[in-house]
Order: sequence, then C-alpha cells, then structure tokens
Amino acid sequence: MAYNLKNHSPFKFIAENSTGLSGLEQKPELQYIPNTYETGAMLGLLCEVGKKIGTATKLNKLVKQITQMTQRTLNATASSVLLFDDKEQELYFEVAEGESERALRKIKLNARAGIAGWVAQNKKPIIINDVMKDQRFDPSVDELTGFTTRSIICAPLLVQRKLIGVIEVLNKSDGSDFNGWDLETLTSVASTAAMAIENAQLHQTVLNAYKSTIKALAAAIDAKDHYTRGHSQRVMEYALMGAVPLSLSREDLDILEYAGILHDIGKIGITDSILRKDGQLTDQEWELMRQHPAIGADMLKDIPFLEKTRVLILHHHERYDGGGYPNGVSGEDIPLGARLIAIADAFDTMTTDRAYRAAFSVDKAIKELVRHSGTQFCPIALEAFISGYNNQQKNPAAGNGNHDLPEND
Ligand SMILES: [Fe+2]
Repeated sequence: MAYNLKNHSPFKFIAENSTGLSGLEQKPELQYIPNTYETGAMLGLLCEVGKKIGTATKLNKLVKQITQMTQRTLNATASSVLLFDDKEQELYFEVAEGESERALRKIKLNARAGIAGWVAQNKKPIIINDVMKDQRFDPSVDELTGFTTRSIICAPLLVQRKLIGVIEVLNKSDGSDFNGWDLETLTSVASTAAMAIENAQLHQTVLNAYKSTIKALAAAIDAKDHYTRGHSQRVMEYALMGAVPLSLSREDLDILEYAGILHDIGKIGITDSILRKDGQLTDQEWELMRQHPAIGADMLKDIPFLEKTRVLILHHHERYDGGGYPNGVSGEDIPLGARLIAIADAFDTMTTDRAYRAAFSVDKAIKELVRHSGTQFCPIALEAFISGYNNQQKNPAAGNGNHDLPEND
C-alpha cells in the first residue's frame, strides 16, 4: 500500500608503510604537494561538512552524510565512523559506508585494540598502506564482514582533546596508496565533524529529556482516571502502528509520537468530577469535556518544538464526515496524524475495560472501526491501522460488551 501524502496537512508534511608509525610521524608523506584538483576537493568537502553542521541535528544522518562525502572525495571504497563509549571503553560503528554496512553495525571494538583503538588511545591520525604488515591490524572485523582491508587512513574525532570517536577510510578505489594529503583532508574533516557530532549528541540528550517530560505529563493525565491508565502510551503505539504502512517521514513519525502520547493533555483542565463520573455526562458536562482538545493545544502553544504536534492534538476528535469537534472539519482537511490518533484512541477505548462495560475483543473493536469507516474514521488511515496492527501480531484483549461505539474519550 503506497499513498501520496503530500496533501495531508500537516504531513504536507556518508599506510606505512610497514613501520607501524603514525601518519603524522611520516614526514615524507606530509610533504606531498597537492594538485589543484585535490585542493579544490578538500575545500569543497570542508565546505559541505560545514553546511551540514548548520542544519543537521539527527546524529546518525549527520554522521552518514559526513562519511559519504569523505569517502567520495578521497575516492575510497569504504569508510566508517566509530563513536567512543567512555563507560564501556568501546568503539562502535555509528555509520559505515560500503558493502559491509549491515554487519559492521553490530560490532563493538575494544577501544585499546586494533588500528582504530590505537588512533583513539593516542589521539593521532594514521596512514597505513599495507595493513598485513602492521601488527596493530585486527583481521577479525574483516572476517566477520567478508571485506578485505588493504589500506587505511584513520583520524581521531576530538573536541578540545576529548575523544568522541574515530573516522576511517579504507582502500583507494583505483588500488593506489593513500598519501599525506588524503590524511590531511581526513584530519581536517575529523576536527569539524567532531564538533558537529558533539552538538548532535547534546541535541539528542535534550530531546531525550524532553521525551521523558512528555511521558511524565501523559502519565499525569492518565492518573486522573484509573480506567485510562496507560491509555496515552497505547494510543501513541497504535497510531505509530498505523503510520508504518503509510511510510511517513521520521519527522512526521516524531510529531505523531508526541501527539499520540499528549492527545488528551487538555484533560488536565477538566474537573475530576466530570472525568471520573461513572454515569452518563450531562449535556453541559459534555460541552466542557469537548473543550479538552483546544485546551491541550493552547497549553502547548509556547513550545515551538511541539508546534506541529499541537495541530494533531487540536483535531484528534474530528470526524471524517465533519461531525466532530472542535472545528467540524472533514475528510483530508483533518491532518492525517489526527485521523490516525482518532482511530487509535477509539481502538484503545474499546479494547479496555470501562466503568460502564467490559473491554471489546480486538476483532469486535476492529469490526466497529470498519463499520464507521468513511463516517467517523478516514478509510485510508483505518486500512493502514488495521494493516499495521496485524503486522505487529498483538494478542487480542479479552472481554465482551455492548455494541455501541463509545465516543473516543
Ligand atoms: Fe481526547
């Protein structure tokens, strides 16, 4: 199933010489005079890396771009960036380019062993044009990947002498040796890349802290009603299951994740006497209850990071036929993420026990969703949810109850 999502607002939305000395110690190599092409290539590479630093915040994407550009500029067949795990004293492949990428991503190396380990320990770059003649070369990685390393240049990633990791480039495509200029290029890229990687790591740390705060907020909402414990987390998970067949971008998945878990945050503004009421709500109480999407969107208005998330929260109770709230928008005017959350919300509501009924079985809940396809729910989003849910092979929740589709509260 493939959909064109461009119109779904807001988803409209990477050598020794056999003496075993480091490259910097090989003065004859560094006296190499680069030609115009090589100088231009190095400047071009540094310029591109600089641009990426200004825009990339996702660590893996950033490192992959830097690695690809470096490998291409140095005309090599493989390259990788290994990040340093200070606690475990290990180097692990954050990104690898070349045929062995998948195998390399599972490998962790002793940060004191091998050529990469030597570079990490000594914080010096190295150039080795015949690894078989170098005692530091550890053939175990090649044995695991099937790749044959002939030559390597490797440079440490340092920020103010602090080791972030190492970057290495393997085997010239034309079989020639790496030279001092190649090493100079790699060392220059390494110093710039190290700062970029550290920035991205800091960004990720802040993002993780943000996610923890969001989860705590969601738990606070659910705690207001013991029947909805874990509801926000499950709605997020169900919405993301529905997103899989739709092939949403990483950014859209993030927006959906935050909106899924925060969709009912506006209920913090609804009195407990309404939220915890066992019986039917009066018309006046329903009117207050229906304000929670707008209250939630308003609560988050000063957080730029959640700007697109707010839109999904605001519209998570809209109906496909226009009969929902707060704005009564219909069809594809409802953001796709909000349509997915509406389905996930109803599905979780039906498959969990409530004060007034036992939980529906999964089969029954899905039948109810399908029965309301095209009226309450978007057919495309519903098909994606059912497909995504089935792919997850979840166990159905037990229980039986009445046949009325509860308003997804
Ligand atoms: Fe809600």
